[in-house]
This record gives sequence, C-alpha cells and structure tokens, in this order.
Amino acid sequence: MGGMTLLTAVWRGAWLEPVYPRVVRAETAIRKLPPEQDGLVIAVLSDFHFRRPEPVMKRVAGVIRREKPDLVVMLGDYRDRRLADFPECDVSRYLALCREGVPALGIRGNHDADLEAAGSGDTPAMLAAAGIPLLAGDRVVLQLRGKPLQICGAGGGADAWYEMTCALAERDPSLPVIGLAHSPEVIGGLPVAPPDLMICGHTHNGQIRLPFLRDILEALNREWQLNFDHGVYELPQTVLAVTSGLGMTRLPFRWRNPCEVLLLTLRTADGP
Ligand SMILES: [Fe+2]
Repeated sequence: MGGMTLLTAVWRGAWLEPVYPRVVRAETAIRKLPPEQDGLVIAVLSDFHFRRPEPVMKRVAGVIRREKPDLVVMLGDYRDRRLADFPECDVSRYLALCREGVPALGIRGNHDADLEAAGSGDTPAMLAAAGIPLLAGDRVVLQLRGKPLQICGAGGGADAWYEMTCALAERDPSLPVIGLAHSPEVIGGLPVAPPDLMICGHTHNGQIRLPFLRDILEALNREWQLNFDHGVYELPQTVLAVTSGLGMTRLPFRWRNPCEVLLLTLRTADGP
C-alpha cells in the first residue's frame, strides 16, 4: 500500500504535473484601456527551463491554438544554467511552436542572463529565430484590435530595475502601460510610477509545495513574506500578476503545483 502511494506520488510529481499544463484564467481592469480592447487576452508563458520539452510544449501549443489569445508574452528562463548544453536552436523551435503565429514578446530570465554572462547563450538571437522580439529596457507599442497597447519589458538579473525604469521613462501617459519583468521583486524599489499592470514569473510558485510548509514557515518567522508567489494581486498603485510557469529548476519535479498557461483578460476600468 505504501509502495503504491509512493509510486503514485512520483508519477504525479515527475510526469503528470510537469507535462499537463493547467489553464489559469484571470481578469484585471486597466485604466485608460480603450473599449475596443475590453476582453483582450494575454497568454503568459514563463520559466521554461527546457530539459524534455516535447510533451509539455505540444500541449501548450494546443492551448494557444484553442484559446486564440491576442498576444503571447514569454517571461524568460528559456534555458537552465544547470542544463547549459540544451541547444538554443531547439529552444527557438519550441518557442515558435507554442506561439502558434500569435504576436509574441519576450524578456530574459535570470538563468538567461547568467548563461550569457558566462559566454553561453545569445537570447536575442534565440528569440529572433522564433520571430519574438526581446524587450530589455525597451518600450513597444503594438496595434491590437485596432488600438495601441503599450508594453515595457525588463529581464532577469541585476539590471532589471534599471531596465524597467528606462522603459517606463519613455511611456506615453495617454496610454495604459503593461510591464513585463521576470521577477516580481522588480515592483518594489522602482524610482518611477509602476506600470498599470506588471506581469511576472520566476517564483515557480515554490515548484514543490509540501502540505503545511507555508504554515510552518510563517509560524517560525512572522516576518516571513511569502507574498506574490502566484496569482493576481491588487496593489495600491498597480496590479501584479505572477505565473507559476512551465518548467522546473534543480529537481525535475513539481508537486501540488502543475505547470500552467496563464490567460489574462484585460477589462476596461473607470476612474481617474
Ligand atoms: Fe525560473
């Protein structure tokens, strides 16, 4: 009996949860969003950490094909610094596969930045081969549903705050602005007003979520802040959306935390 339970747990954590993405749907209201973009859907893919991407990426492609989002954003960690021999050309092929011809934008994750710093990687070229522009301290304005959508992007690593600040400095205040940052940490410490919506990954939602661990950690240390690990957070100046991502780092295992595709629907909002 115990052996069966253990086998089931291993099957769930090593095969089921890393391979079968759950589709998480969330809505958020954005000030100044034009009525034509009410209901616009952004598919968020993050933290790929490619090691055996074929099964999961085929399913991600199926989700994108079925849901037909207006935009796909990819939030980095395409390769894992511990798996540096994973070929960049394969990353490009899988990213192109899962965007399914939908407009897409990408940013770097901390693993991508580390690999490039070690001389092992060319993230802009890797994304370009999949037809995906890389935002690294950049602002772009896309035409979606006949109206402009303003997006600022910053990657992982120590430059993330600087990059986001540079991108936001160029914002057009007449348009809503959406920020893409690898880590939700970027939302703290920005010297300028944050974007109206910030979309992040990086946390993997803990990747392996043991029962009661959160309660135990909070009991041991009341200062412990386990905020912003997964979900949509209404903050005083912005909305923060954090995805648990698709891949795994260190242990090839997810537990009580399946890989996910986040589908974020934008709604118009009144107000100053
Ligand atoms: Fe990651």
